[in-house]
Amino acid sequence: MKGIVLAGGSGTRLAPSTNGVNKHLLNVYDKPMIYYPLSVLMLGGIRDIMIISTPEEIPRFQEMLGDGSAFGLTLHYKGQSDPNGIPEAFVLAEDFIGYDDVTLILGDNIFYGQGFTTLFRRALANHRNATIFGIRVKDPERFGVVEFDENQKVVSLEEKPEDPKSDFAAAGLYIYDYRAVQIAKKLSYSSRGETEITDLNKEYLKGNQLDVQLLGRGFAWMDAGTHESLFEASEFVKITQQRQGFKIACLEEIAYYMGYLSKNALYKKGEGMKKTDYGQYLMEIANRKHTEQYWETIDKNPILELVQNE
Ligand code: DAU
Repeated sequence: MKGIVLAGGSGTRLAPSTNGVNKHLLNVYDKPMIYYPLSVLMLGGIRDIMIISTPEEIPRFQEMLGDGSAFGLTLHYKGQSDPNGIPEAFVLAEDFIGYDDVTLILGDNIFYGQGFTTLFRRALANHRNATIFGIRVKDPERFGVVEFDENQKVVSLEEKPEDPKSDFAAAGLYIYDYRAVQIAKKLSYSSRGETEITDLNKEYLKGNQLDVQLLGRGFAWMDAGTHESLFEASEFVKITQQRQGFKIACLEEIAYYMGYLSKNALYKKGEGMKKTDYGQYLMEIANRKHTEQYWETIDKNPILELVQNE
């Protein structure tokens, strides 16, 4: 399974903050936005990942994340010259995908909730042709909308409909087989001048090859694409982290619990940032003598679920 984080686009809805910097490098509370989608792929066990962004910004991502080895990952980078649409990710990543399955996550999407790792891992394991994730929202007209019947079979898909047929948005997380590349190449531009991921999903739906995995009311899903939603996401992360005492989307922590990083490497990483709460957090985890006991005390740690379910 290959992974793609799509982190390009023009970020116009976040101007002036994005006039000089890519949206996905902005902070969501205490870490860059791109950490959040990357953490999702990592929790799914996906380690071979391509980051797609604007050609000008790729060096900044490389500076921040390197070749991925600091997190136990292999990172590849690819430039997207113009925001021609989400499906273009598959065209740009054609050689990288080859004949593998591929999971795409949008760079401004944040997923959080008890059971998410288990649900995502199950979706990856059971995946056949195409799988999307549906979640109830207050304002479905802002998103791709998925309508399904009582057997959770997808009935229709629409991109930002004026009159939505359901309250379920298609979140920015998608699992496909390699055919997504060829389907993406054939899509036409929509009225907003882009190819649409909803149109790609419709192609799978036509062949009765689209599954939807629903995320229940316990899940928090946010896209941080506007000032309002970015601020809300930061607030959510701050409050959740402060209450529960552990961090959301801490890539080094995930790498450590997944067995990609040694205790020593984790400690050193923390030491390098020891003036921050983030750095101290890493050092504290590395210093813990009884990791298993720690897991037992935290029933909301997604990594706990991972460990318990394997
Ligand atoms: O967030 C989920 C929604 O994302 C889905 O429900 C919609 O079906 C889907 O079309 C998409 O809608 P948005 O209008 O929110 O997409 P947006 O143009 O904001 O792009 C989403 C992310 O992908 C954003 O981080 C920028 C990046 N992007 C987007 C395009 C079109 C690229 O890197 N390149 C692109 O060409």
